[in-house]
Amino acid sequence: MTTNVTVTNLKGGVGKTTTAGLMALFLTEHRKDPVVLIDVDPQCGSTSLFLGANDPHQLSIKDALVAALEGAEPFEIMRDALINVPGKSNLFLIPSDKRLTDLGSGIPANLLLNVIQSAELSDETIVIIDTGTAQGVVSMGICAADMVLIPMTLSKQTIKPTMNTLSLTTQFHKPLLGILPTVCGEAQWESKFLDYWQTTLDESPRLKQLSGVILPRMPYSKSLIRGAWAKMPFPENFEPIFDVIYTRAFGKNALTTLRIMKTLEVSNG
Ligand SMILES: Nc1ncnc2c1ncn2[C@@H]1O[C@H](COP(=O)(O)OP(=O)(O)O)[C@@H](O)[C@H]1O
Ligand SMILES: [Mg+2]
Repeated sequence: MTTNVTVTNLKGGVGKTTTAGLMALFLTEHRKDPVVLIDVDPQCGSTSLFLGANDPHQLSIKDALVAALEGAEPFEIMRDALINVPGKSNLFLIPSDKRLTDLGSGIPANLLLNVIQSAELSDETIVIIDTGTAQGVVSMGICAADMVLIPMTLSKQTIKPTMNTLSLTTQFHKPLLGILPTVCGEAQWESKFLDYWQTTLDESPRLKQLSGVILPRMPYSKSLIRGAWAKMPFPENFEPIFDVIYTRAFGKNALTTLRIMKTLEVSNG
């Protein structure tokens, strides 16, 4: 089975698409194995970032989800929807479609996972899922995840949706790759704000089970505001941050390995 990393938050504009895209680029350059970025946002952020203007005839994740919902086998749709990102030999994208909203809120949470599994991607494939903000889509994304990465800007308005996103992550029993503070400055209140979050993760009986961390901050960077970076090599200045994320996700003591060992301990004991 593939390893699926879902980048999500019920709040928009927190850096989900930027983080998912940077992670996809980072992985593409650090691994020989294929990286598949799935855009599950009707706003099509990742699709336009990597492919530019939308082709209305292009099959999308929406077509695969609709097929699965209707009881059809989405294998061929997924295979036809998969596009090799120009200039990146091992980076693939499954685009989104603005009509993804037609699916409504009552979609089964496991629909995306079923669709990904039906695509029969190789076991070495890393799937990065970039979600929109609708509850149904976020739930599907989390349900399909082996680990959840939650970007967050440091503002009051972000607290509640981020808490709710963490709650969904606990509901689906998924490990938290981390909370990634984005568009950050160097102010003292920002450090305090992040200390508060780490304490909340460590001390809440419910959130503690996520084993989550606050990842290093993504600073405000002019180079990220427009999407030109997506066509270039991974930007060097973000390497230390993504090294931390990579090690936590895929390193020797990776999150999934830890989780599996913990599960074994429980079942053996
Ligand atoms: N670290 C950053 N510095 C400056 N601008 C950023 C940074 N991260 C994201 N942005 C910009 O903020 C906006 C929202 O980011 P985006 O990744 O699209 O968020 P989301 O997918 O959560 O809606 C975009 O215009 C993006 O270019
Ligand atoms: Mg987005």
